This record gives sequence, C-alpha cells and structure tokens, in this order.
Amino acid sequence: MISQAATYSAIESIRDGRRVEIRALRPDDRDALRIAVGRASTQSLYRRFFGVKRHFSEQEIEFFTNIDFVRHVALVVVAEEGGGPAVIGGARYIVVQPGTAEVAFAVVDQYQGQGVGKALMRHLATIGRGAGLKELIAEVLPENMAMLKVFEKSGLPLHMERTPQVVHISLRLS
Ligand SMILES: CC(C)(COP(=O)(O)OP(=O)(O)OC[C@H]1O[C@@H](n2cnc3c(N)ncnc32)[C@H](O)[C@@H]1OP(=O)(O)O)[C@@H](O)C(=O)NCCC(=O)NCCS
Repeated sequence: MISQAATYSAIESIRDGRRVEIRALRPDDRDALRIAVGRASTQSLYRRFFGVKRHFSEQEIEFFTNIDFVRHVALVVVAEEGGGPAVIGGARYIVVQPGTAEVAFAVVDQYQGQGVGKALMRHLATIGRGAGLKELIAEVLPENMAMLKVFEKSGLPLHMERTPQVVHISLRLS
C-alpha cells in the first residue's frame, strides 16, 4: 500500500508574501536538492549535519532521496524562482523505534526567518500523527535558536534536555 504521505502537497504563504508548495520529496528532486545544499551557508550545513557536509556519496544520495514514506518521510519546500521551481528547504522524519521518529530540517539561508521552518513542523506533525506516531525527537546544537524556537512554537508538548554539546528535544504528538 502506498502511504498518503507519498503524495502530500500543501500551499503556504511565507512572510514576504510569496507562495510556496510543501510537498512529498520525489526521486527526481535529486538535482534540485543538490542545488539547495550548494546554496546553503557553512553555518546552516553545520547545524543540519553537525559538520560541514557539501559532498554526498551515491549511497547517501540514495538514502536522502529514496523515501518509503512509512519509516522515512521527507518533505520539500518549492518556490518559484526566475520562472521555474526551486527547492528552498525540506524536512524529514525517520522512525527510530515504534511510535517515535527523529526529525531534521533545513531551509536555504535567504528564506530563513520567514515561517518556512514553522510550516514544515506543522506538516510533519500532521503526517506523523496520521501515521500513528506518538513522539517526535530531535538533537539540536544549543546555539541553534531558530530550530529551538520552531519546536517551542509548534504548540506540541515539549520536553527538553540540555547538555553542553546538544539539546535533546521530545515533542508529544498524542
Ligand atoms: C532551523 C531552521 C530550519 C528554521 O527555519 P526557519 O524557516 O528559519 O524558521 P521560521 O522562520 O519558521 O521561524 C520560527 C520561529 O523561530 C524564531 N526564529 C527564527 N530565526 C531565528 C533566529 N535566527 N534567532 C532566534 N529566533 C529565530 C522566530 O521566533 C520564529 O517564530 P515567529 O515567526 O513566530 O517569530 C532554519 O533556520 C535552518 O535551516 N537552519 C539551518 C539548518 C538547521 O539548523 N537545521 C536544524 C537541524 S535539526
């Protein structure tokens, strides 16, 4: 059975008035994803991958783009740029144990602070809840205020455990 998440699509308005589509990642998004990574700053890549990662092996690309939409759900944000679509962000969750999935987000720098992360959070939570998940977890660098705010402002019950190196987040979905 194909998961409904595999055909997910929603339109959102971001702060500058543009409309973007938040939709399920497709295998043919590979090049668009590569371009989006190329546009991201060193700091953003560090915060996403806990290291500055710009080059990915074929195996890693396979992992990031070959999504089953059950154990691994991935959304992309598509904006119209210069007359064509461009991927400007994305978020995914990976089920790490029954009922619990780990989430990760990334938005291209020039689009950060416009509500894209917040919208991605809302859509991932909707999909996760629909799939029967109980909890979303994440690991965030302590200085990553934007990511911490997205979780705090999600409206979901939040548990936070701080260590000097990383903040462990848990959000209850039910
Ligand atoms: C973290 C990230 C995904 C957030 O996405 P975003 O689109 O920039 O976030 P939003 O615009 O939705 O902001 C959500 C809230 O965070 C707060 N916020 C945003 N940027 C902030 C910043 N730089 N400092 C402090 N707070 C910030 C705002 O209060 C905002 O709430 P508001 O819109 O109600 O005021 C994005 O900044 C990013 O890609 N960063 C690099 C990669 C990364 O850190 N990934 C996380 C790994 S899990």
